[in-house]
Amino acid sequence: MSQDAYRLIGPRGNEMELPVHRGTTGPDVIDVARLYREKGVFTYDPGFVSTASCKSDITFIDGEEGVLMYRGYPVEQLAAKSSFIEVCHLLLHGSLPTQAELDDFENTIRRHTMLNEGMLNFFKGFRYDAHPMAMLSAVVGSMSAYYHDEMDSSNPDHRDIFAHRILAKLPTIAAAAYKLNIGQPFIYPRNDLNYSENFLHMMFAVPAEPYEIDPVASEALDLLFILHADHEQNCSTSTVRMAASSQANPYSAIAGGISALWGPAHGGANEAVLRMLNEIGDASQIGKYVDKAKDKNDPFRLMGFGHRVYKNFDPRATIIREMCHKVLDQLDREDTPLFDLARELEQVALHDDYFKERNLYPNVDFYSGIIYKALGIPTSMFTVMFAMGRSVGWVAHWREMITDPQIKIARPRQLYIGEPKRDYVDIAKR
Ligand code: SDX
Repeated sequence: MSQDAYRLIGPRGNEMELPVHRGTTGPDVIDVARLYREKGVFTYDPGFVSTASCKSDITFIDGEEGVLMYRGYPVEQLAAKSSFIEVCHLLLHGSLPTQAELDDFENTIRRHTMLNEGMLNFFKGFRYDAHPMAMLSAVVGSMSAYYHDEMDSSNPDHRDIFAHRILAKLPTIAAAAYKLNIGQPFIYPRNDLNYSENFLHMMFAVPAEPYEIDPVASEALDLLFILHADHEQNCSTSTVRMAASSQANPYSAIAGGISALWGPAHGGANEAVLRMLNEIGDASQIGKYVDKAKDKNDPFRLMGFGHRVYKNFDPRATIIREMCHKVLDQLDREDTPLFDLARELEQVALHDDYFKERNLYPNVDFYSGIIYKALGIPTSMFTVMFAMGRSVGWVAHWREMITDPQIKIARPRQLYIGEPKRDYVDIAKR
């Protein structure tokens, strides 16, 4: 038996040696690919708690140690020293760019920010109060109708133009959704502005007067986009991989990722956190809501708390919490009561045995909404902000999978617990 194998001892002496694969760091994996063919059994892991779906060299997370690295670089260092557009280059190409490479990449993104004018017509069909995530998913999905001419995924140039269009056009689509919601005219992108500045311009400028971009706001957004850029095989990224594994149009795969992210158990949590804090109202109600979160008969959960992987702290939450102080101070915003309530709620939960026993800590969504709100971004747009940051992660994982010579369509099996075989009964005899 090789030193790195596991021996599976089944019923009636049925044995099998399962090879182990070791990565750069993190848990080893047991390769069960031969299990069904040789032993006629499946593994069973609802929610994929203990399942590695692929090999990847993009992002690494250590949930016990609170580690998050993009291409080996700790997120804390990238948050302190990099920019979102540089992180996009890193995630897509695997290395930090030279100045020339960065300038060329950024210039390319800036020059793809406009939408085909026909796409703007979609917004005329939405109700004024349509949720921005519904509009984002629909319009991104429609990109598969506009750009089918350059969709040969085996062509590296087509893969690049797909990446550039998704990164560049998501902010334009996102801001257009917001303008529809508030009944203002769409604002076209400007190529003289960087990624975050351009988004703020398209969100808050109006034709009637000049709009001055607050550097505190653009800096805060850029940092939030870095922190949301990728997170290995999370629900929405796995959705993109699953959809694209059938060789589906990548724009439609990204639209699927947007839909998966919208769920309140995933990226929709940042919007749910603000609604929860507003419902709690003040510190005197915290105990009541913490008890509700602990009550198995109550579906209420503490939004922004807990994580499938982080069983210690979420390093992104730590950085965002520190950012809250700075942004609220510099913007001289009166939202501090909301931030103070969030801090008090965090302290109560972290000292409660129920949360400590289950290793429930604030995650990336717990504080991010407080900053978005301080920047004037409405709650309904919070998950759209998450999608804009995560778009580069989705594209990077799509590219990694679609260029894998061993790519296979994702097709899990099941444990069947339905009816045994039975014969059809004529309706007259039922
Ligand atoms: C994101 O995967 C990623 O990487 C996601 C993400 C990314 O960057 O892509 O990090 C972004 O999605 C962050 C998570 C945002 N979601 C929320 O904040 C929603 C609230 N949290 C949860 O619903 C929950 O914690 C999950 C979905 C995040 C994780 O769920 P798991 O891993 O399936 O854990 P679980 O549901 O099995 O919970 C374990 C226990 C349970 O209690 P017991 O059955 O053991 O008694 O902890 C309890 C749960 O009831 N629990 C909570 C809780 N989260 C878990 N109880 C109260 N409040 C909570 N928030």
